[in-house]
Amino acid sequence: MNDVLIRNVRLYGDGDAVDVRLGEGEIREIGPALDAGDAEVVDGSGKYLLPGFVDLHTHLREPGREDTETIESGSAAAALGGYTAVFAMANTTPVADSVVVTDHVWRRGREIGLVDVYPVGAVTVGLAGAQLAEMGTMAAGEARVRMFSDDGHCVHDPLIMRRALEYARSLGVLIAQHAEEPRLTAGAVAHEGPNAARLGLAGWPRAAEESIVARDALLARDAGARVHICHASTAGTVELVKWAKGQGISITAEVTPHHLLLDDSRLETYDAVNKVNPPLREASDAQALRRALADGVIDCVATDHAPHAEQDKCCEFAAARPGMLGLETALSVIVQTMVAPGLLDWRGVARVMSENPARIAGLDDQGRPLAVGEPANLVLIDPDTTWTVHASELASISENTPFDSMTLPARVSATFLRGRVTAREGKPEPRDETTGAS
Ligand code: DOR
Ligand code: ZN
Repeated sequence: MNDVLIRNVRLYGDGDAVDVRLGEGEIREIGPALDAGDAEVVDGSGKYLLPGFVDLHTHLREPGREDTETIESGSAAAALGGYTAVFAMANTTPVADSVVVTDHVWRRGREIGLVDVYPVGAVTVGLAGAQLAEMGTMAAGEARVRMFSDDGHCVHDPLIMRRALEYARSLGVLIAQHAEEPRLTAGAVAHEGPNAARLGLAGWPRAAEESIVARDALLARDAGARVHICHASTAGTVELVKWAKGQGISITAEVTPHHLLLDDSRLETYDAVNKVNPPLREASDAQALRRALADGVIDCVATDHAPHAEQDKCCEFAAARPGMLGLETALSVIVQTMVAPGLLDWRGVARVMSENPARIAGLDDQGRPLAVGEPANLVLIDPDTTWTVHASELASISENTPFDSMTLPARVSATFLRGRVTAREGKPEPRDETTGAS
Protein backbone atom coordinates (compact mmCIF):
# COMPACT_ATOMS: atom_id res chain seq x y z
CA MET A 1 0.00 0.00 0.00
CA ASN A 2 1.32 3.42 -0.95
CA ASP A 3 1.86 6.12 1.62
CA VAL A 4 -0.76 8.88 1.75
CA LEU A 5 0.27 12.51 1.89
CA ILE A 6 -2.36 14.93 3.17
CA ARG A 7 -1.37 18.35 1.85
CA ASN A 8 -2.02 21.68 3.55
CA VAL A 9 -4.22 20.60 6.41
CA ARG A 10 -4.76 22.24 9.77
CA LEU A 11 -4.44 19.90 12.74
CA TYR A 12 -7.48 20.21 15.02
CA GLY A 13 -8.35 23.31 12.96
CA ASP A 14 -5.52 25.16 14.71
CA GLY A 15 -2.38 26.96 13.57
CA ASP A 16 -0.76 26.93 10.14
CA ALA A 17 -1.49 24.30 7.51
CA VAL A 18 1.03 21.43 7.33
CA ASP A 19 1.55 18.25 5.32
CA VAL A 20 0.99 14.88 7.00
CA ARG A 21 2.43 11.63 5.64
CA LEU A 22 0.75 8.33 6.56
CA GLY A 23 2.41 4.96 6.02
CA GLU A 24 2.68 1.54 7.64
CA GLY A 25 -0.51 2.36 9.55
CA GLU A 26 1.07 5.32 11.31
CA ILE A 27 1.63 9.03 11.04
CA ARG A 28 5.19 9.07 9.66
CA GLU A 29 5.95 12.73 9.13
CA ILE A 30 4.39 16.12 9.84
CA GLY A 31 5.83 19.32 8.41
CA PRO A 32 5.68 22.03 5.79
CA ALA A 33 6.05 21.09 2.10
CA LEU A 34 6.90 17.39 2.49
CA ASP A 35 8.20 15.54 -0.54
CA ALA A 36 5.33 13.48 -2.01
CA GLY A 37 7.54 10.80 -3.58
CA ASP A 38 5.23 7.97 -4.65
CA ALA A 39 2.61 8.80 -2.02
CA GLU A 40 -1.01 9.30 -2.96
CA VAL A 41 -1.75 12.99 -2.39
CA VAL A 42 -4.97 14.04 -0.67
CA ASP A 43 -5.74 17.77 -0.76
CA GLY A 44 -6.33 19.11 2.74
CA SER A 45 -6.66 22.79 1.82
CA GLY A 46 -9.27 24.50 3.95
CA LYS A 47 -9.77 21.25 5.88
CA TYR A 48 -9.15 20.06 9.42
CA LEU A 49 -7.54 16.82 10.58
CA LEU A 50 -8.81 15.14 13.76
CA PRO A 51 -8.33 11.70 15.30
CA GLY A 52 -10.96 9.28 13.90
CA PHE A 53 -14.24 9.16 15.77
CA VAL A 54 -15.16 6.38 18.20
CA ASP A 55 -18.82 5.45 18.70
CA LEU A 56 -19.58 3.64 21.94
CA HIS A 57 -23.18 2.95 20.88
CA THR A 58 -24.11 1.56 17.47
CA HIS A 59 -26.74 -0.98 16.47
CA LEU A 60 -25.57 -2.95 13.44
CA ARG A 61 -28.47 -5.48 13.47
CA GLU A 62 -26.35 -8.43 12.34
CA PRO A 63 -27.04 -11.23 13.14
CA GLY A 64 -30.81 -11.32 12.75
CA ARG A 65 -32.12 -8.17 11.06
CA GLU A 66 -29.94 -7.94 7.99
CA ASP A 67 -32.94 -6.43 6.19
CA THR A 68 -32.33 -3.25 8.22
CA GLU A 69 -28.51 -3.08 8.52
CA THR A 70 -25.54 -5.37 8.22
CA ILE A 71 -22.04 -5.16 9.62
CA GLU A 72 -21.04 -4.23 6.06
CA SER A 73 -23.60 -1.46 5.49
CA GLY A 74 -23.16 -0.14 9.02
CA SER A 75 -19.38 -0.14 8.60
CA ALA A 76 -19.78 1.94 5.43
CA ALA A 77 -22.05 4.38 7.28
CA ALA A 78 -19.48 4.59 10.08
CA ALA A 79 -16.58 5.28 7.71
CA LEU A 80 -18.62 7.96 5.94
CA GLY A 81 -19.38 9.55 9.31
CA GLY A 82 -15.66 9.77 10.16
CA TYR A 83 -15.60 6.79 12.54
CA THR A 84 -12.62 4.49 12.89
CA ALA A 85 -14.09 2.38 15.72
CA VAL A 86 -17.66 1.50 16.66
CA PHE A 87 -19.12 -0.59 19.45
CA ALA A 88 -21.92 -2.83 18.17
CA MET A 89 -24.69 -3.30 20.71
CA ALA A 90 -25.74 -6.75 21.86
CA ASN A 91 -29.48 -6.63 21.09
CA THR A 92 -29.18 -8.73 17.95
CA THR A 93 -30.94 -12.03 17.15
CA PRO A 94 -29.47 -14.14 18.59
CA VAL A 95 -28.38 -11.83 21.38
CA ALA A 96 -24.62 -11.28 21.71
CA ASP A 97 -24.55 -13.03 25.07
CA SER A 98 -22.01 -15.69 24.09
CA VAL A 99 -18.52 -15.76 22.71
CA VAL A 100 -19.81 -17.41 19.51
CA VAL A 101 -21.77 -14.29 18.60
CA THR A 102 -19.30 -11.70 19.86
CA ASP A 103 -16.39 -13.33 18.02
CA HIS A 104 -18.50 -13.60 14.84
CA VAL A 105 -19.24 -9.85 14.91
CA TRP A 106 -15.57 -9.08 15.53
CA ARG A 107 -14.35 -11.28 12.66
CA ARG A 108 -16.94 -9.97 10.22
CA GLY A 109 -15.93 -6.40 11.08
CA ARG A 110 -12.28 -7.24 10.43
CA GLU A 111 -13.10 -8.94 7.10
CA ILE A 112 -14.94 -5.83 5.87
CA GLY A 113 -12.18 -3.61 7.18
CA LEU A 114 -13.89 -0.23 6.94
CA VAL A 115 -13.96 0.43 10.68
CA ASP A 116 -12.91 -1.48 13.79
CA VAL A 117 -16.10 -3.16 15.00
CA TYR A 118 -16.01 -4.01 18.69
CA PRO A 119 -18.86 -6.23 19.84
CA VAL A 120 -20.59 -5.24 23.08
CA GLY A 121 -21.51 -8.30 25.13
CA ALA A 122 -24.86 -8.67 26.88
CA VAL A 123 -24.85 -8.31 30.66
CA THR A 124 -27.64 -10.87 31.11
CA VAL A 125 -28.60 -13.99 29.18
CA GLY A 126 -30.95 -13.05 26.34
CA LEU A 127 -31.13 -9.47 27.72
CA ALA A 128 -33.76 -10.91 30.04
CA GLY A 129 -32.32 -9.27 33.13
CA ALA A 130 -32.40 -12.43 35.23
CA GLN A 131 -29.09 -14.28 34.91
CA LEU A 132 -25.63 -12.90 34.24
CA ALA A 133 -24.15 -13.76 30.85
CA GLU A 134 -20.70 -15.32 30.66
CA MET A 135 -18.88 -12.03 30.52
CA GLY A 136 -15.55 -13.65 31.35
CA THR A 137 -15.71 -16.01 28.37
CA MET A 138 -16.59 -13.15 26.01
CA ALA A 139 -13.80 -11.00 27.46
CA ALA A 140 -11.33 -13.86 26.91
CA GLY A 141 -12.45 -14.55 23.31
CA GLU A 142 -10.86 -13.34 20.12
CA ALA A 143 -12.86 -10.09 20.27
CA ARG A 144 -11.63 -9.45 23.83
CA VAL A 145 -14.99 -7.88 24.70
CA ARG A 146 -14.42 -4.93 27.00
CA MET A 147 -17.87 -3.37 27.21
CA PHE A 148 -21.11 -5.02 28.28
CA SER A 149 -24.64 -3.70 28.00
CA ASP A 150 -28.24 -4.90 27.82
CA ASP A 151 -28.98 -1.75 25.81
CA GLY A 152 -32.55 -1.62 24.59
CA HIS A 153 -33.31 -2.94 28.06
CA CYS A 154 -32.25 -1.72 31.47
CA VAL A 155 -30.48 -4.03 33.91
CA HIS A 156 -33.28 -3.07 36.27
CA ASP A 157 -32.93 -5.60 39.09
CA PRO A 158 -30.61 -3.88 41.58
CA LEU A 159 -29.14 -7.16 42.79
CA ILE A 160 -28.29 -8.31 39.26
CA MET A 161 -26.77 -4.89 38.52
CA ARG A 162 -24.75 -5.06 41.71
CA ARG A 163 -23.37 -8.47 40.79
CA ALA A 164 -22.69 -7.37 37.21
CA LEU A 165 -20.66 -4.41 38.48
CA GLU A 166 -18.69 -6.61 40.86
CA TYR A 167 -18.00 -9.14 38.11
CA ALA A 168 -17.05 -6.34 35.69
CA ARG A 169 -14.67 -4.88 38.20
CA SER A 170 -12.80 -8.15 38.60
CA LEU A 171 -12.61 -8.58 34.81
CA GLY A 172 -11.56 -4.97 34.21
CA VAL A 173 -14.47 -4.36 31.83
CA LEU A 174 -17.15 -1.67 31.59
CA ILE A 175 -20.91 -1.91 32.13
CA ALA A 176 -22.93 0.54 30.02
CA GLN A 177 -26.42 1.03 31.37
CA HIS A 178 -29.57 1.88 29.42
CA ALA A 179 -31.15 3.75 32.33
CA GLU A 180 -34.89 3.10 32.28
CA GLU A 181 -36.87 1.86 35.27
CA PRO A 182 -39.36 -0.35 33.41
CA ARG A 183 -42.08 -0.05 36.05
CA LEU A 184 -42.21 3.68 35.27
CA THR A 185 -42.25 3.35 31.49
CA ALA A 186 -44.71 0.52 30.87
CA GLY A 187 -46.65 1.51 27.74
CA ALA A 188 -44.77 4.82 27.39
CA VAL A 189 -43.97 6.10 23.91
CA ALA A 190 -42.96 9.77 24.38
CA HIS A 191 -41.49 12.15 26.94
CA GLU A 192 -43.97 12.75 29.76
CA GLY A 193 -44.84 16.43 29.53
CA PRO A 194 -47.34 18.92 28.10
CA ASN A 195 -46.75 17.87 24.49
CA ALA A 196 -47.38 14.17 25.04
CA ALA A 197 -50.42 14.98 27.18
CA ARG A 198 -51.92 17.18 24.48
CA LEU A 199 -51.19 14.65 21.74
CA GLY A 200 -52.55 11.73 23.76
CA LEU A 201 -49.24 9.85 23.89
CA ALA A 202 -48.37 7.79 26.97
CA GLY A 203 -45.53 9.49 28.87
CA TRP A 204 -42.00 8.29 29.83
CA PRO A 205 -41.07 10.35 32.90
CA ARG A 206 -37.60 11.76 33.46
CA ALA A 207 -37.53 10.00 36.81
CA ALA A 208 -37.45 6.59 35.06
CA GLU A 209 -33.98 7.48 33.78
CA GLU A 210 -32.76 9.52 36.74
CA SER A 211 -33.70 6.97 39.41
CA ILE A 212 -31.53 4.33 37.69
CA VAL A 213 -28.64 6.78 37.19
CA ALA A 214 -28.69 7.64 40.91
CA ARG A 215 -28.99 3.99 41.93
CA ASP A 216 -26.21 2.81 39.63
CA ALA A 217 -23.87 5.57 40.79
CA LEU A 218 -24.27 4.25 44.33
CA LEU A 219 -23.89 0.61 43.24
CA ALA A 220 -20.73 1.47 41.28
CA ARG A 221 -19.35 3.33 44.29
CA ASP A 222 -19.88 0.33 46.57
CA ALA A 223 -18.55 -2.17 44.03
CA GLY A 224 -15.53 -0.01 43.26
CA ALA A 225 -16.55 -0.46 39.63
CA ARG A 226 -16.94 1.81 36.62
CA VAL A 227 -20.35 2.49 35.13
CA HIS A 228 -21.20 4.25 31.87
CA ILE A 229 -24.58 5.90 31.31
CA CYS A 230 -25.93 5.46 27.78
CA HIS A 231 -27.82 8.26 26.01
CA ALA A 232 -28.31 10.73 28.89
CA SER A 233 -31.48 12.64 28.06
CA THR A 234 -32.51 14.84 30.98
CA ALA A 235 -31.28 17.87 32.90
CA GLY A 236 -31.66 15.80 36.07
CA THR A 237 -29.30 13.11 34.76
CA VAL A 238 -26.72 15.84 34.20
CA GLU A 239 -27.05 16.95 37.83
CA LEU A 240 -26.76 13.38 39.10
CA VAL A 241 -23.68 12.58 37.00
CA LYS A 242 -22.09 15.82 38.19
CA TRP A 243 -22.83 14.91 41.79
CA ALA A 244 -21.48 11.36 41.37
CA LYS A 245 -18.27 12.59 39.74
CA GLY A 246 -17.89 15.05 42.61
CA GLN A 247 -18.05 12.08 44.99
CA GLY A 248 -15.20 10.39 43.15
CA ILE A 249 -17.45 7.69 41.68
CA SER A 250 -16.17 6.17 38.39
CA ILE A 251 -19.09 7.22 36.25
CA THR A 252 -19.08 8.40 32.64
CA ALA A 253 -21.91 9.42 30.36
CA GLU A 254 -22.70 9.85 26.69
CA VAL A 255 -25.24 12.00 24.85
CA THR A 256 -26.64 11.42 21.37
CA PRO A 257 -26.68 14.01 18.59
CA HIS A 258 -30.49 13.77 18.43
CA HIS A 259 -30.95 14.62 22.10
CA LEU A 260 -28.77 17.70 21.58
CA LEU A 261 -30.61 19.00 18.51
CA LEU A 262 -34.21 17.83 18.72
CA ASP A 263 -36.99 18.09 21.29
CA ASP A 264 -40.51 16.82 21.81
CA SER A 265 -42.07 19.64 19.79
CA ARG A 266 -41.24 17.32 16.85
CA LEU A 267 -44.01 14.92 17.94
CA GLU A 268 -46.75 17.17 16.54
CA THR A 269 -46.92 15.21 13.27
CA TYR A 270 -47.08 11.79 14.97
CA ASP A 271 -44.32 10.74 12.58
CA ALA A 272 -42.62 7.77 14.26
CA VAL A 273 -39.25 8.80 12.82
CA ASN A 274 -39.16 10.91 15.99
CA LYS A 275 -39.77 7.96 18.29
CA VAL A 276 -36.66 7.00 20.19
CA ASN A 277 -35.73 5.55 23.52
CA PRO A 278 -35.09 7.51 25.73
CA PRO A 279 -37.54 9.92 24.10
CA LEU A 280 -36.83 13.39 22.75
CA ARG A 281 -37.21 15.61 25.82
CA GLU A 282 -37.91 19.33 26.22
CA ALA A 283 -35.82 22.19 24.86
CA SER A 284 -34.57 22.91 28.41
CA ASP A 285 -33.16 19.36 28.63
CA ALA A 286 -31.37 19.74 25.29
CA GLN A 287 -29.87 23.01 26.56
CA ALA A 288 -28.64 21.35 29.76
CA LEU A 289 -27.14 18.46 27.76
CA ARG A 290 -25.27 20.86 25.48
CA ARG A 291 -23.80 22.72 28.44
CA ALA A 292 -22.86 19.45 30.15
CA LEU A 293 -21.06 18.20 27.04
CA ALA A 294 -19.22 21.52 26.78
CA ASP A 295 -18.07 21.53 30.39
CA GLY A 296 -17.19 17.83 30.60
CA VAL A 297 -19.95 16.56 32.91
CA ILE A 298 -21.03 14.46 29.93
CA ASP A 299 -17.92 12.83 28.54
CA CYS A 300 -18.73 12.00 24.97
CA VAL A 301 -21.07 11.80 22.01
CA ALA A 302 -22.45 8.39 21.03
CA THR A 303 -24.85 7.96 18.13
CA ASP A 304 -27.26 5.21 19.27
CA HIS A 305 -27.46 4.56 15.51
CA ALA A 306 -30.62 2.42 15.40
CA PRO A 307 -31.74 1.33 11.93
CA HIS A 308 -35.33 0.14 11.51
CA ALA A 309 -37.32 -1.22 8.59
CA GLU A 310 -39.98 0.91 6.96
CA GLN A 311 -42.79 -1.33 8.22
CA ASP A 312 -41.52 -0.89 11.79
CA LYS A 313 -41.49 2.92 11.50
CA CYS A 314 -44.25 3.85 9.06
CA CYS A 315 -47.08 2.75 11.31
CA GLU A 316 -49.01 4.17 14.25
CA PHE A 317 -46.78 5.89 16.78
CA ALA A 318 -47.44 3.47 19.62
CA ALA A 319 -46.63 0.42 17.47
CA ALA A 320 -43.45 1.82 15.89
CA ARG A 321 -40.01 0.77 17.08
CA PRO A 322 -37.86 3.37 18.80
CA GLY A 323 -34.59 4.47 17.22
CA MET A 324 -32.91 6.74 14.68
CA LEU A 325 -29.98 6.55 12.29
CA GLY A 326 -26.99 8.54 13.49
CA LEU A 327 -23.58 7.56 12.11
CA GLU A 328 -23.53 9.66 8.95
CA THR A 329 -24.99 12.81 10.48
CA ALA A 330 -23.31 12.90 13.91
CA LEU A 331 -20.47 15.28 13.07
CA SER A 332 -22.77 17.76 11.34
CA VAL A 333 -25.22 17.78 14.24
CA ILE A 334 -22.37 18.35 16.72
CA VAL A 335 -21.07 21.24 14.61
CA GLN A 336 -24.57 22.72 14.47
CA THR A 337 -25.34 22.35 18.18
CA MET A 338 -21.90 22.77 19.78
CA VAL A 339 -19.33 24.37 17.46
CA ALA A 340 -21.51 26.99 15.73
CA PRO A 341 -22.80 28.47 19.01
CA GLY A 342 -19.27 28.50 20.46
CA LEU A 343 -19.78 25.75 23.07
CA LEU A 344 -16.94 23.62 21.67
CA ASP A 345 -13.94 24.32 19.47
CA TRP A 346 -12.48 21.67 17.16
CA ARG A 347 -10.17 20.37 19.86
CA GLY A 348 -13.31 19.92 21.87
CA VAL A 349 -14.88 17.93 19.01
CA ALA A 350 -11.82 15.65 19.02
CA ARG A 351 -12.21 15.23 22.76
CA VAL A 352 -15.91 14.28 22.82
CA MET A 353 -16.06 12.26 19.60
CA SER A 354 -12.69 10.50 19.72
CA GLU A 355 -10.39 10.89 22.74
CA ASN A 356 -12.91 10.48 25.53
CA PRO A 357 -14.82 7.52 24.05
CA ALA A 358 -11.51 5.77 23.24
CA ARG A 359 -10.38 6.26 26.83
CA ILE A 360 -13.71 5.08 28.28
CA ALA A 361 -13.54 1.90 26.18
CA GLY A 362 -9.84 1.37 26.83
CA LEU A 363 -8.75 1.50 23.16
CA ASP A 364 -5.08 2.35 22.99
CA ASP A 365 -4.94 2.89 19.20
CA GLN A 366 -7.83 5.36 18.88
CA GLY A 367 -8.27 8.94 20.03
CA ARG A 368 -4.50 9.40 19.99
CA PRO A 369 -2.62 12.69 19.50
CA LEU A 370 -1.85 13.85 15.96
CA ALA A 371 1.86 13.16 16.23
CA VAL A 372 4.57 11.16 14.45
CA GLY A 373 4.51 7.48 15.40
CA GLU A 374 0.85 7.49 16.38
CA PRO A 375 -1.69 5.20 14.64
CA ALA A 376 -3.12 6.77 11.48
CA ASN A 377 -6.78 6.50 12.52
CA LEU A 378 -7.92 9.90 11.33
CA VAL A 379 -10.73 11.99 9.90
CA LEU A 380 -10.37 14.84 7.42
CA ILE A 381 -13.18 17.37 7.73
CA ASP A 382 -14.46 20.13 5.48
CA PRO A 383 -15.67 22.59 8.14
CA ASP A 384 -17.10 25.23 5.83
CA THR A 385 -19.40 23.23 3.59
CA THR A 386 -23.07 22.48 4.11
CA TRP A 387 -25.07 19.53 2.84
CA THR A 388 -28.66 18.42 2.73
CA VAL A 389 -29.44 15.04 4.24
CA HIS A 390 -31.35 12.67 1.96
CA ALA A 391 -32.34 9.49 3.76
CA SER A 392 -32.31 7.42 0.57
CA GLU A 393 -28.70 8.43 -0.18
CA LEU A 394 -27.24 7.26 3.12
CA ALA A 395 -25.16 4.07 3.21
CA SER A 396 -27.42 2.54 5.84
CA ILE A 397 -29.94 0.04 4.52
CA SER A 398 -32.63 1.73 6.62
CA GLU A 399 -33.83 5.30 6.10
CA ASN A 400 -35.13 6.32 9.53
CA THR A 401 -33.27 9.58 9.97
CA PRO A 402 -35.04 12.49 11.67
CA PHE A 403 -32.58 14.80 9.87
CA ASP A 404 -33.96 14.04 6.40
CA SER A 405 -34.15 17.21 4.26
CA MET A 406 -32.21 19.26 6.84
CA THR A 407 -29.26 21.29 5.61
CA LEU A 408 -26.41 20.84 8.07
CA PRO A 409 -22.89 22.25 8.41
CA ALA A 410 -19.54 20.46 7.90
CA ARG A 411 -18.84 17.11 6.29
CA VAL A 412 -16.32 14.32 6.39
CA SER A 413 -13.97 14.54 3.39
CA ALA A 414 -12.05 11.36 4.12
CA THR A 415 -11.56 8.78 6.83
CA PHE A 416 -8.32 6.83 7.38
CA LEU A 417 -8.09 3.50 9.19
CA ARG A 418 -4.47 2.54 9.88
CA GLY A 419 -3.46 4.85 7.06
CA ARG A 420 -5.86 3.45 4.48
CA VAL A 421 -8.68 5.55 3.04
CA THR A 422 -12.02 4.01 4.10
CA ALA A 423 -14.29 6.81 2.88
CA ARG A 424 -13.77 9.74 0.58
CA GLU A 425 -16.11 12.54 -0.58
CA GLY A 426 -19.26 10.70 0.41
CA LYS A 427 -18.30 7.23 -0.83
CA PRO A 428 -16.96 4.27 1.15
CA GLU A 429 -13.71 2.71 -0.11
CA PRO A 430 -13.70 -1.02 0.55
CA ARG A 431 -10.42 -2.90 0.42
CA ASP A 432 -9.27 -3.66 -3.10
CA GLU A 433 -9.58 -7.46 -3.19
CA THR A 434 -7.98 -7.72 -6.64
CA THR A 435 -4.64 -6.29 -5.59
CA GLY A 436 -4.89 -7.47 -2.01
CA ALA A 437 -4.18 -3.90 -0.92
CA SER A 438 -5.31 -3.33 2.62
O1 DOR B 1 -34.24 4.08 20.49
C1 DOR B 1 -33.62 3.07 20.77
N1 DOR B 1 -33.40 2.10 19.87
N2 DOR B 1 -33.17 2.92 22.02
C2 DOR B 1 -32.62 1.77 22.45
O2 DOR B 1 -32.25 1.69 23.58
C3 DOR B 1 -32.53 0.61 21.54
C4 DOR B 1 -32.51 1.03 20.14
C5 DOR B 1 -32.74 -0.08 19.17
O3 DOR B 1 -32.13 -1.15 19.31
O4 DOR B 1 -33.50 0.12 18.23
ZN1 ZN C 1 -30.50 2.37 24.83
